[in-house]
Amino acid sequence: MRRPNPRPPTPSVGKQVARAGSKTSESADKPSKPRVVRTKSGAKKIVKKAPPRQAPQLFQLEALPGLGTFLEAEFLKMRIRPQIVDVPDADTFRVLYTGTPADLTRLRNAQSAFWVENFDVPRPKALMGQQHLDHLLGLVNKMRGLERFRSFRLSAAGADSPTFTRLKAELEDKLDIPYLEDKGELLLKVVPGPDGWEVQVRLTPKPLSARVWRVANMEGGLNATVAAAMVDLAGISEKDRIFNPMCGSGTLLIERRRLGKSAVLTGCDNDDYALECARQNVGAAGYTPDVTLFKGDATALELRDNSFDLVLVDLPWGDDIGTAADLERLYPVFLKEMARVCTRSARMVVLTHAVKLFEETLSNQFAWKFGSEHRVFHGGHHPRMYYLRR
Ligand SMILES: C[S@@+](CC[C@H](N)C(=O)[O-])C[C@H]1O[C@@H](n2cnc3c(N)ncnc32)[C@H](O)[C@@H]1O
Repeated sequence: MRRPNPRPPTPSVGKQVARAGSKTSESADKPSKPRVVRTKSGAKKIVKKAPPRQAPQLFQLEALPGLGTFLEAEFLKMRIRPQIVDVPDADTFRVLYTGTPADLTRLRNAQSAFWVENFDVPRPKALMGQQHLDHLLGLVNKMRGLERFRSFRLSAAGADSPTFTRLKAELEDKLDIPYLEDKGELLLKVVPGPDGWEVQVRLTPKPLSARVWRVANMEGGLNATVAAAMVDLAGISEKDRIFNPMCGSGTLLIERRRLGKSAVLTGCDNDDYALECARQNVGAAGYTPDVTLFKGDATALELRDNSFDLVLVDLPWGDDIGTAADLERLYPVFLKEMARVCTRSARMVVLTHAVKLFEETLSNQFAWKFGSEHRVFHGGHHPRMYYLRR
């Protein structure tokens, strides 16, 4: 269970817990040598070297509203575990981390990751003093060493004030990339901090949900961090025969495959364009050999009974895709068809925005039982994730 810690003092410029790249960080924990160990069956297994550790650095990791518990659970599985030092809200974590920032950009359930630096200044104007400006530029250049940023933007209360207008002009001049009000790739947030003012620099040009494998987009495509949470909710077994009906652009299939192979991983859609998007995205992710895609109506499938152990599905929500009347017809027949193609011990994770209709449909049938429900806030919508079992 998460217990918010009292706010600890943030390391400040000058009193920073040794910054990465400083002498202290170079002498931080050295990587251990690879070791050979025996598994239970007697086979030899090489235990890889632990990655080199940096001095602890403060980061802020944000999940979509409603997905904080999934992100927190993901921390526990990391080789170098982030130490949570503050939980400003249920979906935002401030962590001290000794691995490389790139590790954090691979968190499947995080929407964004920021490097956090405290400046011991009474007001933002003081950031323009030479020492602080140099420090800020050094920080930004460190981020530019990790990723390519072609523009920048600044988010702050009063971002149009003379102080921030000057700061933007200074940065534009020194960084030699343009300031773009809404679309700037390098996002700098200036907020009051516990010990002065804090500059938070996003580690990536886009939110982390913008996956590199997404080469083909379709309207109604699922935010990949929501898909990751659905996969985590379903639980992972390599023995699972997994079906993703109404797969759209393939988000759920790819996010599941990222965690390893399964006995079967199959998606279908009744729309050619959606299937083409899925094919391209699955191909870009490098998973073509492991994912089967076919055109089919998810309410009348040409599949044998008892073919699957797990269904992952992002149902049409009745706005972008399908009208309300379409959904009323679709939902009951769909649940019945899934009961037919699944085993008696199968489970299903469903995402839908048509909450009332889905819950009514669920209470009017006996094939699937309610397990749990999770609210998500996504692109102005408030869909819900349901875990069902037979
Ligand atoms: C909400 S979208 C899924 C989006 C997908 N999760 C993604 O990330 O792109 C729903 C999909 O269901 C498909 N669909 C709607 N009715 C269907 C049916 N009866 N059988 C198969 N697919 C259907 C639509 O073509 C659409 O691609």
